[in-house]
Amino acid sequence: MTTNHEISVLFVCLGNICRSPLAEGVLAHHLAEAGLSDRVFVDSAGTGAWHVGQAPDSRSIAVAAQNGIELSGSARRVRLEDFVEFEFVLAMDRSNLEDLMDLESGSGSDAVLKLFLEFDSDPTGDPDVPDPYYGGSDGFQRVFEMVDRTCAALVEHLSDELAP
Ligand code: 4NP
Repeated sequence: MTTNHEISVLFVCLGNICRSPLAEGVLAHHLAEAGLSDRVFVDSAGTGAWHVGQAPDSRSIAVAAQNGIELSGSARRVRLEDFVEFEFVLAMDRSNLEDLMDLESGSGSDAVLKLFLEFDSDPTGDPDVPDPYYGGSDGFQRVFEMVDRTCAALVEHLSDELAP
């Protein structure tokens, strides 16, 4: 990792404007509350390149703001080096995971590559965070709720991994 953090987490969705920047902001918020911001680095990326350089979707910004969380950063595409630099690469849905597995193969990475919702403390049975891009703001609210709950559980997991 290029930072001084002990653990790094990369969230990956398709466009890097709706789900993964929201997860990035929410996890950063939970880490700050747990006093772990200096120890865990968080970033996000997309498997697609359509929105590279853009700010998060205004509906993700809005649902985050309603919950006291500010989203920052601009969209970028996932790259091969990410599998070396990040300990955790977490896909928002199974399609993202498949694309990441294709990209990762042969990278020599020992990153943990899995679905984000594997950390969900209250799983609904659906392994995917649904893509809210073509829906309304209620979809973003639902995504926020699952992201918030899962990030809280992820912080617990990361705290256990960190040395005291
Ligand atoms: P995200 O949502 O993967 O959560 O950022 C999407 C954003 C854009 C598109 C699809 C999904 N798109 O087709 O442009």
